Amino acid sequence: MIDFKDVRFTYDGQQYALDGVNLHIEPGSFVCILGGNGSGKSTLAKHINALLLPDGGTVTVLDKKTSDPENTFFIRSNAGMVFQNPDDQLVASLIENDVAFGPENLGVPAPELRERVTEALRAVGLQGFEKKETAALSGGQKQRVAIAGMLAMQPQILVLDEASAMLDPRGRAGLMRVCKELNEAGMTIVMITHFMEEAAAADVVHVLSGGKIALSGTPEYVLGQVEVMEDLSLDIPFAARVSHDLRAAGLPLAMHVDETGLVNDLSRLLKGGAQ
Ligand SMILES: Nc1ncnc2c1ncn2[C@@H]1O[C@H](COP(=O)(O)OP(=O)(O)O)[C@@H](O)[C@H]1O
Ligand SMILES: [Mg+2]
Repeated sequence: MIDFKDVRFTYDGQQYALDGVNLHIEPGSFVCILGGNGSGKSTLAKHINALLLPDGGTVTVLDKKTSDPENTFFIRSNAGMVFQNPDDQLVASLIENDVAFGPENLGVPAPELRERVTEALRAVGLQGFEKKETAALSGGQKQRVAIAGMLAMQPQILVLDEASAMLDPRGRAGLMRVCKELNEAGMTIVMITHFMEEAAAADVVHVLSGGKIALSGTPEYVLGQVEVMEDLSLDIPFAARVSHDLRAAGLPLAMHVDETGLVNDLSRLLKGGAQ
């Protein structure tokens, strides 16, 4: 679905922001890309929808090479991008106009346009918000309207580049829930984040460092590599650290990336021990 093959990219001709990236993203998967500031996350994101083209190697999206200008339109309309700042993404003052903006540009006729807007707003939990003003929304709601605008174009892939970075915990949770639901309905989600907890919800996690993929695997595997993650200056979520340390101390626990799983496993163990 998305393939990076030996991708290199430089902004200034000196330093590689992407330095030999190989990445394969399966259709229908929920992928999380983690990495510190300047590790190349946004540069990678922009390669997925041909906003940037590789200086070396190839990026293929839905079997089409991003480097061929003939593919740009197809790729952009199939790989929706949501960025960090909610206020930078909304183009119209009325929500329905904002959500309709993308598909209207794709030439979708009026009656279908209205259906798409209604359906997209429903999918992000904002049904009935058509006539509301975008200015009146919370940050989290704005990001969900931005996602609705992408959904209305019916893309197969949604890329979120630190889309939750400016949201409060409630806004972040709402955004994550929407992404999970979209993924369950078949959409491929690429979530780029520096929040380690968000990685816990993914099928596969890739960690970027200095423009290279430093670590890939399930959240349990990646977040369990505590020493490597620390070397990369990345925080380990509480549950992952505790389960890692308890395992190192010899307790028969699984590696957990969320607190509920850890608590259940620990209670099972403690109750078992008390019998
Ligand atoms: N427009 C730009 N011009 C020059 N250098 C850039 C530009 N955007 C990013 N970079 C550099 O490329 C590297 C990767 O940046 P970026 O992809 O934005 O990282 P991240 O999104 O992980 O913070 C950094 O060293 C950054 O300084
Ligand atoms: Mg970035």
